[in-house]
Amino acid sequence: EESKVKIITIDGTAGSGKTTIAKFIVQKLDFDYIDSGALYRAVGFIAKEKNLLREDEIVEFLSKNPIRFTFDKNTFRVFISDKELTSLIRTEEIGKYASMIGKMLKVREILTSSQREYLKNVKKGLVLEGRDSGTIVFPNANLKLFVNANINVRAERRAKDLGNISIDEVKKYIIERDKQDINRDIAPLRFPNQGYFIDNSDIGIEEVYDKILSLYLKAL
Ligand code: DC
Repeated sequence: EESKVKIITIDGTAGSGKTTIAKFIVQKLDFDYIDSGALYRAVGFIAKEKNLLREDEIVEFLSKNPIRFTFDKNTFRVFISDKELTSLIRTEEIGKYASMIGKMLKVREILTSSQREYLKNVKKGLVLEGRDSGTIVFPNANLKLFVNANINVRAERRAKDLGNISIDEVKKYIIERDKQDINRDIAPLRFPNQGYFIDNSDIGIEEVYDKILSLYLKAL
């Protein structure tokens, strides 16, 4: 399937602006979209809420309460057992839980297969955003991007998006999360083979998109 449907993967550090870039591409190219971070966050939310901290408990819970997601009208939604979690998962605390969940092999297997499964219903193209999108989930994607930005820029942007949290506190959270995501044994955050680096520190979205579009057209 991977050859018919076009795939663009976007991996990168916490707060690097992956979502902004992904959504821009999705709108311009009329592609489908998976925010895999939202899946890890949703499981993190459940782990916190139900106090499930062991991998086998979480796997057991997910087998009875499956995770599901949709992308419609430019909105990515995530559900566990039909309870919508979309708006409940956007805190740095849940991000920290998500990063902890990201270390669990069996949970990663469940979430990875649900992302691959989703591709079967994609007609034209898919943008997949995450930490292992171009390395593990779709290593044969048409275009694989790795996004990073200066730590101060990242912390400022996220603090602004989140509100109610200081830049310094956000900075601590994202440094810790990156460290955890890069150093885990399974599917760590890595630069994908034949990937392209996007420095998203100080160039605007239009300029980033122009660069990505030309890379994409060349790659086809
Ligand atoms: O992209 P995000 O900030 O919403 O991701 C939250 C956390 O989820 C991230 O710090 C690690 C985990 N994650 C992962 O392990 N694998 C992915 N493909 C996406 C996210």
